[in-house]
Amino acid sequence: MPDSLGTVLVTGGAGFIGSTLSHALAPRSERWVVVDSLLPQVHGTGGERPAALHPAAELVVADVTDRTALDAVVADVRPEVIVHLAAETGTAQSLDESSRHALVNVVGTTQLLDALTAADHVPDLFVLASSRAVYGEGVWRHADGREFQPGLRTHAQLERGEWDHPGSVHLANSATTTPAAPINVYGATKLAQEHLLGAWAGSRDSHVSVLRLQNVYGPGQSLTNPYTGIVSLFSQLARAGRSIPVYEDGAITRDFVYIDDVVSALAEVVSERVRLPRPVDIGTGVRTTILDVARAIAEYHGAPAPRITGAFRDGDVRHAACDITATEELLTWRPRWDLPSGVAALQTWIADELDAGAEGLE
Ligand SMILES: NC(=O)c1ccc[n+]([C@@H]2O[C@H](COP(=O)([O-])OP(=O)(O)OC[C@H]3O[C@@H](n4cnc5c(N)ncnc54)[C@H](O)[C@@H]3O)[C@@H](O)[C@H]2O)c1
Repeated sequence: MPDSLGTVLVTGGAGFIGSTLSHALAPRSERWVVVDSLLPQVHGTGGERPAALHPAAELVVADVTDRTALDAVVADVRPEVIVHLAAETGTAQSLDESSRHALVNVVGTTQLLDALTAADHVPDLFVLASSRAVYGEGVWRHADGREFQPGLRTHAQLERGEWDHPGSVHLANSATTTPAAPINVYGATKLAQEHLLGAWAGSRDSHVSVLRLQNVYGPGQSLTNPYTGIVSLFSQLARAGRSIPVYEDGAITRDFVYIDDVVSALAEVVSERVRLPRPVDIGTGVRTTILDVARAIAEYHGAPAPRITGAFRDGDVRHAACDITATEELLTWRPRWDLPSGVAALQTWIADELDAGAEGLE
């Protein structure tokens, strides 16, 4: 492992994943420069430097769509590694606010590339936090063995309560076997980021390592953003003694991966400058229903049992889980956290955060 990681630019580096990553790597970097707009939906409206960001991180409050700001940062930092985390991340929200998502996630990425071109600077490596959303509904297998990609569940289908594809099972997503086929705007923008960075880096002998993250949860996730972080949202409801409402029939599945496991994967790629030959999937490899995660959180707090509402959100995928076998062939990384331990750690953190907030109001 190199002594110093060199100069690292982290877009969106003041958020949930970026702040946690800063604790792992900022002290080991020559410079760890964060460009983050401190989006009010994530950070509130105060505009202060997030306490969770490591003190060694230099914070530039700027929008990735602001070319002038990016030009200045790139010319100053000339980063050897760029970790691209800045994004609008609301899956359901992205259907109603498509331009907002496309502007930040797509144009924000191309603005960054144009700023690099203008500074005549080529980083050694880009590391992209992509998403399981690029798979959409993924690949399913029918009882007769036939595999198919069902694509988007239509609004009419969901209205009728047709949640699953009868007689079929979802196969765990893997970058080696599952074609990318996003079904919501957010997923489409994340796939666009992969392609945009890949095209630019490939033509300049740089490289993009793409990590497709499953559902990340844990301490540090925004407690106020209503559009992301189902485990945080459920935890706050149960903590308040309320019954957690669960969408569809409760059998939606996700692979919930604890923040420290995501950060250790990113840290390996950044610190070892790993040039991944293909995207990798970062999850636990374990599939959990939303009802089961709601039950575990409710039981932890002694809250009333979760209730299945039959409500749904257009653009939600039915099942998302990944197979990490191919990732384990390329990285020494292994996930360490199971769901009960991660959920318990999150509850402790939320209690501390909310108690600290309450004290501040006294
Ligand atoms: N958390 C997850 O479950 C998950 C899953 C898959 C992929 N990802 C990806 O990981 C990355 C980080 O996600 P996170 O969970 O830390 O989210 P987050 O919302 O906590 O962090 C994103 C950061 O980007 C910043 N940002 C947003 N728009 C910006 C803009 N226009 N200019 C500059 N900064 C901007 C926000 O202020 C925030 O600090 C994102 O790219 C996301 O797509 C996250």
